[in-house]
Order: sequence, then C-alpha cells, then structure tokens
Amino acid sequence: MHVSDALSKRRSTRAFLDTPIETARLTRLIAQASRAPSGGNLQPWHVHLLNGAAMTRFHATMAPRLDAGQTDPLEYPIYPPSLSEPYRTRRFAVGEQMYARLGIPRTDKAKRLEWFHRNWRFFDAPAGLFLFTDRMMGAAQWSDLGGFLQTLMLLLVEDGLASCPQEAWAMHHTAVTDFCDTPPDLMLFCGLAIGIPDPAHPLATFETERAPQTEWLTLHE
Ligand SMILES: Cc1cc2nc3c(=O)[nH]c(=O)nc-3n(C[C@H](O)[C@H](O)[C@H](O)COP(=O)(O)O)c2cc1C
Repeated sequence: MHVSDALSKRRSTRAFLDTPIETARLTRLIAQASRAPSGGNLQPWHVHLLNGAAMTRFHATMAPRLDAGQTDPLEYPIYPPSLSEPYRTRRFAVGEQMYARLGIPRTDKAKRLEWFHRNWRFFDAPAGLFLFTDRMMGAAQWSDLGGFLQTLMLLLVEDGLASCPQEAWAMHHTAVTDFCDTPPDLMLFCGLAIGIPDPAHPLATFETERAPQTEWLTLHE
C-alpha cells in the first residue's frame, strides 16, 4: 500500500467489529510508529496499550464514573476557550455532518450526549491505547505526539485496522492514570480506539471535509 492510499483510507472510525486483535500485532505496529520524527529525537511519547482482559477490566473501572456522570477538570484545554473563525464553523460542521449520518437531530441533546459518551467505551473497539507525555514537555513535543499518532494510524490502516484518536479521554484523566498506574510526571494527551471497522454501521462511509488549499496555503515563488 502506498502512503497516499493509507492516507486517503484513514478516517476516524467510531464503530468496530468485536473481532479481537492480537497483542503482538499491535505492539509491532506501535514499535514501527516510533520511527516518527521528533525534535531532538526526544521521542516524548509514552504508550499504554489495553487489549483483551485489560480492556474488560478498564470498562469495569469506568462504569461507576460513567453511571454517576462524573468527569475530571481538564488538565489541558481541548480547544481554545473562544474558538474564532474559521475553526468554529469547521468544528460545528463536522459535528452536524456526523450526527446527520447517525440520524440524531440537534434537538435530541440526550441522544447526542449518549453518542458522545461512547468515546468512553473506546467506541466498543476491542483494543485501545493511551498516549502520555512528560509534564515538562511543551508545544513542540506535543506536536511530536501528533506525528507519532498519525504514523501509527497510517500503519494500522496498512495492516487492515482502523482507529479513532480521542481527546475526550482528557475528561477522565484521573481514571486513566489510576488504571494505568502512571507516575505523576506523566500527563495524558489522548486515547486511540483500535479495531476492525464495522462495514454495516452508518458511519462506515462517513468522510470529513477539508478546507480548500487556498484557505491555508500561502505560496511564495
Ligand atoms: C488529537 C485528536 C483528538 C481527537 N479526539 C476525538 C475525540 O475525542 N472523539 C472523537 O470522536 N473524535 C476525535 N478526533 C477525531 C476528529 O474529530 C477527526 O480527526 C476529524 O473530524 C477529521 O476526521 P477524520 O479523522 O475522519 O479525517 C480527534 C482527532 C485528533 C487528531
């Protein structure tokens, strides 16, 4: 598979088959993803992979929190507090398009929330990981985490798997760090749901838009 094929096939997948994924397959792909570049070769990523029985145990620890509607104060802002244009419109558009596919109207806030909460079940993916970095790291190293994540997501596609990056886990960072038993100097960035996409789900063919190049490319020649 060419990189460009993997790139166009990758999409945030939010519905998976319950087919188990071998741990060795995942650790191989995660190891490969560490070929991602990072400033100064710091490799500021720390990954906790949950698979099989660990995923079942994790769901069990999350259940009381989710039932109680409990969330944590964010350790980092998922979005800037007041999102300006054109970002605000883009964010709104992707949400509307996704909920339209799911047949959940704007007025049905409860159903939308219920769907959003599926984030905290890894969208029922059989495997998932949490990506942490050292608290001392700054914006430059956080961008390295993005490079690592995209590299891994493309490798997953090449290997017949799909994924969804999930900052939503920032709303449950204490549950995640407790479960993973990470030292206090590690901070959670996001999760990644991993599995085989469910081809029968309404979102299976959902593709997001991209702004035209003229909106963000300035050419000097
Ligand atoms: C770092 C990161 C965090 C994300 N967090 C979430 C999330 O918590 N829940 C979710 O459903 N999608 C999440 N997404 C997926 C984005 O909504 C998605 O990438 C975007 O809409 C573009 O769609 P595509 O990935 O299918 O191309 C996240 C993406 C990134 C890169």
